[in-house]
Amino acid sequence: MVAVEVLENKFFHLHNDRISYLFYVMENGQLGHLYYGAFLGELTKEDFRYMLLRESKSAGTVKYSEALTLGDRAQEYPVYGSSDFREGAIEVMDGEDYLYLDFKFDSYAIEDQKPYDLEMPLSASTENVKVLKVRLKDSDHKLTLTQTYAIFDDVSAIVRSSELTNDGDRSVQISKIMSGALELPDANYELWHLCGAWLKEDHVKKQNLAPGHLSFGSLRGATSPQHNPFAALVEKGAGLDNGVVYASNLIYSGNFITSINVNEWNQTRIYTGINPDHFSWLLEPGESFKTPEAVLFHTKDGINGLMKETHAFVLNHIIPPKWQNKVRPIVLNNWEATYFDFDDRKLLELAEKAKEIGIECFAVDDGWFGHRDDDRTSLGNWTVDERKFPNGISAFAKKIHEMGLKFGMWFEPEMVSPDTKLYADHPEWVVGHPYERRSVGRGQYVLDFADPQVVDAIYQQMKAIIEETGLDYIKWDMNRNITEAYSNYLHEKKRPQGEFFHRYILGVYSLYAKILSDFPEIFIEGCASGGGRYDLGIMCYSPMIWPSDDSDAVERLDIMSGAMLAYPLAVFSNHVSACPNDQVRRSTPLEMRHNVCDFGALGYELDITKLSDGELAAIKANIAEYKKQRELILFGRFKRLLPFDENEVSWCVTNDSQSLVGFYRKLAQPNTSIFDYLKLPFADENKRYLVDKKHQVKGRWLKNNGLLLPYQFNGANADTAGLIGDFQSARISLEELN
Ligand code: DGJ
Repeated sequence: MVAVEVLENKFFHLHNDRISYLFYVMENGQLGHLYYGAFLGELTKEDFRYMLLRESKSAGTVKYSEALTLGDRAQEYPVYGSSDFREGAIEVMDGEDYLYLDFKFDSYAIEDQKPYDLEMPLSASTENVKVLKVRLKDSDHKLTLTQTYAIFDDVSAIVRSSELTNDGDRSVQISKIMSGALELPDANYELWHLCGAWLKEDHVKKQNLAPGHLSFGSLRGATSPQHNPFAALVEKGAGLDNGVVYASNLIYSGNFITSINVNEWNQTRIYTGINPDHFSWLLEPGESFKTPEAVLFHTKDGINGLMKETHAFVLNHIIPPKWQNKVRPIVLNNWEATYFDFDDRKLLELAEKAKEIGIECFAVDDGWFGHRDDDRTSLGNWTVDERKFPNGISAFAKKIHEMGLKFGMWFEPEMVSPDTKLYADHPEWVVGHPYERRSVGRGQYVLDFADPQVVDAIYQQMKAIIEETGLDYIKWDMNRNITEAYSNYLHEKKRPQGEFFHRYILGVYSLYAKILSDFPEIFIEGCASGGGRYDLGIMCYSPMIWPSDDSDAVERLDIMSGAMLAYPLAVFSNHVSACPNDQVRRSTPLEMRHNVCDFGALGYELDITKLSDGELAAIKANIAEYKKQRELILFGRFKRLLPFDENEVSWCVTNDSQSLVGFYRKLAQPNTSIFDYLKLPFADENKRYLVDKKHQVKGRWLKNNGLLLPYQFNGANADTAGLIGDFQSARISLEELN
């Protein structure tokens, strides 16, 4: 059930059967916020009137009118000034001057569809969705602001976006336009957000809210591994399965900001949207500007409740429909196996072995084009290196296909190396200020994707390769961020350089759109040195993301723990790599690497031609087992079983009758308990379970006492053969019996 109810052309109630979102037209015509939380049932005019009763007066305020101060009023889309001293959601300039904006309710419309769109990433559904568009007008400045709200029947989320239209006859500049805002009546929350850097993406950082202002975001041209746009406000005292959590995310891959303000009365205001730094947009008469969508989640069921919502949202409303319930292929990628040092013979050896052990897709990573023997050359020259492929790339692809494998290739479409013809012919296609010095990252420049001509030139090169090889899968990499964000194209078009970052990311989306419209079967994995552009925007095109270049199983536990707060297992590709690990030099047992990588889209990235028979047999057996459980893993419900910040990590996926538990102990500790148990809060007390296809166990026992965990070496074991110290792990299956 999903509905938008409107009373007296003034009170708005968006709800499904789990959440209610309420706002109203205030006495000054602006939109006031009333409530976001658990479903309230049917509401009458009397209910709304009660909600509006106010007894207290806030001291030290300036008034908008006799009985109204915006300083203490929760609002839907606040504007700075006019009695509200907090940061606003929108700023518009007329030349050097700020406009004092005052958007008043004009009209509304309700739609029943939210179509999938390739032009701009959007949440989508063709049924069981309601879209409410509220039109507000600032008649002094002849501006129309449309606030769009969407609610789906199956997730506890409100999707918001804003659109500004210039109805006047003078151009104006938008210097800030947030996607949406959420006001909460208190500040009793801990902020959790995902931050890190290359090789340590998505670590969960927590801090208490306090009066003042805090924000995080990106000015790198991509969402970045430093900060993901996701933010959760976790009620103090909330646990894995109880307590209120609000969260926000943004369906966008460029510069963003998430900003949280707590005022003197402990009211909390959270905004998210395009980062206003280095942003300005010229809005000519008759033009409109649309923001990306913000998503606001609510649950009262703690961290696991939050993940239920965020995962369902991505799986049902973000991922391209074609991939919504489709398993991801098991990939062998040659990167960590060979780096740049390969030729077609070496790759065919790898592919043959891959086929033997059950792998489904072979992907050639970086180094197949130009004369790329290291990372300082050839980007932008997407023609095959005939030294490495003397028979050409199509003959190679044919062999891979004849083996019954899918074929994938690596591209880094947005970049150009200084030694290419593309760069020599078109130095003006590179992003950079027009002075002598130009910043270089990984020896490469960024192409000006704000310019449609540049996007098209790259597309034509990619199209030729896709057609020649019958390509099934693209790994789309992006390995440097943008500085000196200056576009010759915008200069020529007389558009402000402040438009660059947004136009750049729209250009990236347009390349995705071209590829996916012409080759709808192709599967594109998003990658940006690992998790440098890991967001809901890219997921609208890429159903799978390479979340980190760090393939160490221990580090991945932390990365996954963070990423899983916002994104489901199905979008997470995990590759088993060699040991000692290339990023941290840590050696973990193959079993641990499997037990970590199996939770997600499994893949391999090591020289499997050099493994022992025993290791190959173990991989083959793991792949066979994984295939049986793949749907459960990718589309089952994910829950954490142990809290964060522990030496021990445990999680599980469950569907109606099956569950798979992962348990990991990073470091061994001497002389701990003799028997370890892991409680399973989700176990049904009235059922029995078949554990690891061997033991029949009562649900009540599993819930109240727990699953028996593997034996831990405690310093006094007589027989230590087969016991693991550090990096112990277990994967335990459960089947409901009745
Ligand atoms: C960074 C990616 O994340 C790696 O997986 C690999 O594709 C390299 N780039 C290749 O240059």
